[in-house]
Amino acid sequence: MDVTAEPLTLLRERTSMKWRNYPGDVLPLFIAEMDYPLAEPIAEALHDAVRRSDTGYAAPANDLGEAFAGFAGNRWGWRVDPDQVASTTDVSVAIVETLRGLILPGDRVVITPPVYPPFFDLVAEAGGRVEPVPLLHGQTGWTLDLDALERVFLGGTRFILLCNPHNPIGHPHGIEDLIALAELAARHGVTVVSDEVHAPLTRAGAVFTPYLTVSPEAAEHGVCLTSASKAWNLAGLKCALIVTASERMRRVVTALPQEVSWRTSQFGLIAGVAAYRHGQPWLDGVLAALDANRGLLGDLLDAQLPGVPYSPPDAGFLAWLDLRSLGWGDDPSAAALERAKVALSPGPMFGTPGQGFARLNFACSPEVLSEAISRLAAAI
Ligand SMILES: Cc1ncc(COP(=O)(O)O)c(C=O)c1O
Repeated sequence: MDVTAEPLTLLRERTSMKWRNYPGDVLPLFIAEMDYPLAEPIAEALHDAVRRSDTGYAAPANDLGEAFAGFAGNRWGWRVDPDQVASTTDVSVAIVETLRGLILPGDRVVITPPVYPPFFDLVAEAGGRVEPVPLLHGQTGWTLDLDALERVFLGGTRFILLCNPHNPIGHPHGIEDLIALAELAARHGVTVVSDEVHAPLTRAGAVFTPYLTVSPEAAEHGVCLTSASKAWNLAGLKCALIVTASERMRRVVTALPQEVSWRTSQFGLIAGVAAYRHGQPWLDGVLAALDANRGLLGDLLDAQLPGVPYSPPDAGFLAWLDLRSLGWGDDPSAAALERAKVALSPGPMFGTPGQGFARLNFACSPEVLSEAISRLAAAI
């Protein structure tokens, strides 16, 4: 089905962060919200819930596990046990609470910058200490730095918060890297917490591999955190999944305080079930629209900002732009906002490797994307 971004006049009626953070003359291409209309089956499920006044607490026995298992089986051939799916408020809460259930205060937790900025704070909120092991960027693209990971595991670090597919570079980690990580983790007694919220947005032709499927070791020591929030634009509804595939990790999740699952939002749950059960045609339409924008962005940069390297992401709607050639300093998003009235996410927030970079959200109309790049080019 065709999915098209809404026009700016309608979008500016939205009251979410994307549309309220900046004045009306700024094009907001920062936070990870999309400009497409809500998928019809989700809108219907929410309208139905309002009609029933079904606005109470989310039931602990619900359809989310079975709906996600159906989606994961269909999309990735991943056999998820619905009984090993728990829910909570959002992926951020899932990260904090899962880590809290795993670590002791002061334990080190690896993250792999440049990476989704809240990871730094979420590890700290759970009582851990961030151990950055930056990704490597070479001829063949982005990879985990397996040698550096082994060094920190040898040094006693026992936890890693993986981002797969990786925000901000839109890279689904390759299966060889994931298998190697699982081997290292098994050898050193490491637990892998894998944030897979961007996975449904993997482009046709690219491969996303769920961490828990890569080997029996990964299933044993891994836990997947995900949500329909990114792929179906439901962040405001608040519902995320904690998925396990072993008795050992199930015990970690069932030992979390009951409040963790009680804080799932009823509307988030209803929307998530509708997304996983009936949202695939809409998702495929969004993937087609994103694919067009991914190509358009490359063309626009070639024509108007030829010094800006860009690797089209294989998953998601975020482009990681190396703006160092513009001479706009460590945080080029500041100049982009001031001179071009384009709001981007500041690269340095993603960790030290983000200096001179900015992240651009292209889940918008081709017209908005073209206007944004023209504004940036004119501001140089
Ligand atoms: C990798 C990653 N994890 C988590 C989140 C936040 O998810 P939630 O809104 O469910 O907390 C995002 C949001 O963009 C993200 O990119």
